[in-house]
Amino acid sequence: MIEPSSPVKLLELATAFQRSKVLFEMIRLDLATLLAQGPRSLDDVGSSVGADLVAAERFLDTCVALGLLVRDGSSFRNAPDSQRFLVRGTPAFLGDALTRYDRVSQSTAWTEFAQRLRSWRAGSTESPISLEGAPRDAEFDGQHRLSLLAGEALARVLDLSAKRRLADLGGGTGAMSIALCERHPDLKAIVVESAEMVPVASAYVRERRLLDRIGVREGDFMSGPLPADCDVVLLANVLSLFSVESNRTLIGRIFEHLPAGGTLVLSG
Ligand SMILES: C[S@@+](CC[C@H](N)C(=O)[O-])C[C@H]1O[C@@H](n2cnc3c(N)ncnc32)[C@H](O)[C@@H]1O
Repeated sequence: MIEPSSPVKLLELATAFQRSKVLFEMIRLDLATLLAQGPRSLDDVGSSVGADLVAAERFLDTCVALGLLVRDGSSFRNAPDSQRFLVRGTPAFLGDALTRYDRVSQSTAWTEFAQRLRSWRAGSTESPISLEGAPRDAEFDGQHRLSLLAGEALARVLDLSAKRRLADLGGGTGAMSIALCERHPDLKAIVVESAEMVPVASAYVRERRLLDRIGVREGDFMSGPLPADCDVVLLANVLSLFSVESNRTLIGRIFEHLPAGGTLVLSG
């Protein structure tokens, strides 16, 4: 029997932003921080955020439905992910990195999407990298923590124990190098980055006391020399910045540069 078609999937896609907005507002209201020490009553939370109790209960119940909070009777507490990642001031806080997506959703990359889609042409000159979505200010720290988590996940599935020197091209804050070097004590890394990112990455590497094993070098890996004596090259969230042609050239150069048995890791 053929199932009658339903618009459920379309409605889910059309309303997905409402779930994101609940998360963003929960972060802006600092609810997880308010609940960090344990459960609090509806009355307590409502008056702390300055909301009418009916409105507060609806909002908190929505957070419960989305798995962000847990309700026990008339009190609410953080779900495990909220406790770990949404409590402001804790080392794993990702709130600013997550609300960045709200900011980016209002950038011209999205508001002028159709017009840009029609005007963009492949194969012409390299379009300048849009900085609208790049992290700024407080978002940087959260973005670094997210990249560290990605690096730790990569370190768990990628065995680099036989490798000695990693070239992290466009390594950003150095998070992937930090995670991989922390996992592999014999590994050293060199992060190649633009001039403005060098002090940022250096500060994060210093913070983890890895300056003796991770170097941060200013350079343009598309046109400049690649770091010498590397047996593994990492391109994490980099290929999507460039055209197919430029990427072919880059990967060809990396292939020529690596020794026999060298490794190229494409991540992101
Ligand atoms: C999307 S970020 C990825 C950062 C990092 N790999 C990560 O996954 O966390 C891309 C980075 O590449 C750097 N980048 C782009 N083109 C570059 C070039 N030609 N030479 C050096 N760095 C470059 C940018 O400055 C930016 O920090």
